[in-house]
Amino acid sequence: MCLETSFMNKAHELLASFKSRFGTGASVCRAPGRVNLIGEHTDYNDGYVLPAAIGFSCWVGIAPRVDRQLILFSENYGEVHEAGLDELGVRGSGHWADYPLGVAWALQEAGYRLRGANIDIAGDVPLGAGLSSSAAIEVSTGYALLSAANHTIDRTKLALLCQRAENEYVGARVGIMDQFVSCHWRAGHALLIDCRSLEYRPLRIPAKVSLVVCNTMIKHKLQAGEYNVRRAECEEAVRKLSGALPTIRRLRDVSLEQLVQNRSLLSETIYRRCRHVISENERVHEVADLFEQGKTEGLREVMAASHQSLRDDYEVSCQELDAMVEIAGRQRGVYGARMTGGGFGGCTINFVDVEHATEFQQRVSEEYESAIGLRPDIYICEASQGAELVETTAESLPRVSR
Ligand code: GLA
Repeated sequence: MCLETSFMNKAHELLASFKSRFGTGASVCRAPGRVNLIGEHTDYNDGYVLPAAIGFSCWVGIAPRVDRQLILFSENYGEVHEAGLDELGVRGSGHWADYPLGVAWALQEAGYRLRGANIDIAGDVPLGAGLSSSAAIEVSTGYALLSAANHTIDRTKLALLCQRAENEYVGARVGIMDQFVSCHWRAGHALLIDCRSLEYRPLRIPAKVSLVVCNTMIKHKLQAGEYNVRRAECEEAVRKLSGALPTIRRLRDVSLEQLVQNRSLLSETIYRRCRHVISENERVHEVADLFEQGKTEGLREVMAASHQSLRDDYEVSCQELDAMVEIAGRQRGVYGARMTGGGFGGCTINFVDVEHATEFQQRVSEEYESAIGLRPDIYICEASQGAELVETTAESLPRVSR
């Protein structure tokens, strides 16, 4: 089944369950998860990233109410949560509803007056797999809340407000990549994003390359805490280096040469963190150049260098991710493999020749299971579209501009 048909089917399923739960029609908004092709832990250093939206999404059915209550139902958790728009507070409570409520909070903080609404949420982005289920729920809810209140917003602004929700309401200091690509992307392309200027450029993924995502099925609890630690280490590096390099604002502004010259200002660990970020920014451009020329030669080395740098310098890989990358590297038709996302478990991204993708899926699955003892989920992805209104049986139509 093509993605478009499966999206329409999902929208109709959600409309049917919305009707049986709330008794009315609804608008359905969708926002996708993403896989990052290269540029890991560079976004919060004002650097570059190259993600693509994938076929897994979060779907939000919404219909306005006359009062100021939000009645949220999660199809995934089978649970209702209720909150008043005027009593959202400034901090979540560690519940799944923090994501949609955080977005409502951030939109109101930015001056958008929202309406109470009945909301039904269904996601198929694998949770905790590093494919950005959080951004998908944030963006689809944001889009839905705005449409129910008849507001217009530009997509970059929506992405920034969703990031604010996650940073301040949920409490994870993530960069802008996930929300940005969930808002902006189009089919068949990856998005080269400059995370400082927020300028972006769609790059066509070479036609013979399939994006294959391998889920290690490992979710390490370390992730949230260690993510914030890495971010703090990068900020400390900038403070220490700025004595010698007064114009720098983030690691984006430091070259490898400058880093080496000022090595004595940094501890060994922080020096390695910086080396990862600075070299990873260069690798993003290398992959972008290859994509622009429609080339696959050279991808393998760049992807391997990225994985190695994340493993040894940034220290966010784990045994299962390393095993998955190593197994992938031995298969036929592979143009490159590395871990993707925040790390400490989750997925790898593999560039695989379209002709070999199914064989790759089978073999990697068998070899990983016999090495690690877990059966991995392996997805052959299509780079999908960004956030959109899918279907409506309600009267209000969203007006979200590009
Ligand atoms: C998580 C964050 C992103 C980014 C990646 C690492 O997915 O949400 O902002 O920092 O980790 O590249």
